[in-house]
Amino acid sequence: MLAIIGGTGLTRLSTLAIARREVVRTPYGEPSSALVFGEIAATSALFLARHGHGHTIPPHRVNYRANLWALKNRGATAVLAVASVGGIRGVAPGELVLPHQIIDYTHDRPATFFDGGDRTVVHVDFTHPYTPALRQTCLEGAAKAGIALADGGVYAAVSGPRLETAAEIDRLDRDGATMVGMTGMPEAALARELELPYAAIAVVVNHGAGRGDSGDHISMESIADVLETAMEKVRTLLEHIAPLVQEYSTGAK
Ligand code: HPA
Repeated sequence: MLAIIGGTGLTRLSTLAIARREVVRTPYGEPSSALVFGEIAATSALFLARHGHGHTIPPHRVNYRANLWALKNRGATAVLAVASVGGIRGVAPGELVLPHQIIDYTHDRPATFFDGGDRTVVHVDFTHPYTPALRQTCLEGAAKAGIALADGGVYAAVSGPRLETAAEIDRLDRDGATMVGMTGMPEAALARELELPYAAIAVVVNHGAGRGDSGDHISMESIADVLETAMEKVRTLLEHIAPLVQEYSTGAK
């Protein structure tokens, strides 16, 4: 079953015909919200609001371990994350991007299920942080939906919650990052540790600090405007991706 983790601007999924909600307890504490079970385009799916239903949990306080554990425990076989980002290079507000790489700058977040104690030491392979086959499925869904989804990008994960300085954005650019967001890690790595295929749809909501129309400051009003239109596209995209993921994760494809 496909699990969707909705970020800023996607705390509810109107395309999901809701069957039930479930509050899940985990060995890692409370997930961000109840899990919502339902159907998208006649395909069963599971939805979790990353920042809580009322959007009250900031990126550095999201319980990423509880979220991923709960999804796996309740039957998720693939995870599609939706996350808003600032654009650094080659992307503009309003665009949807399917990143293929990550650079992790986050700190002070519990970032692994393999935390010592009585467990053997495990180092998961993370060469390709986003599952290539799931990415491919997303691209096919986008083509069917007729929605532009840029193939590839390097996601810089920062702790936030403040936005970056212009110099920080320049540094991320020099490092090779093309977009910046606050929730991509450890979410992707935890999915890998649980052997859950994972991909992300990044919604570019602003130019990074110091760039383009964020030259002087980043406007929250324009972010809100961009989010609203872009999330409509994301909903349509999900309707086309969900049935394909179902085929993919049942091995029918
Ligand atoms: N920086 C970090 N995270 C973000 C941004 C940004 O500019 N926009 C949306 N999420």
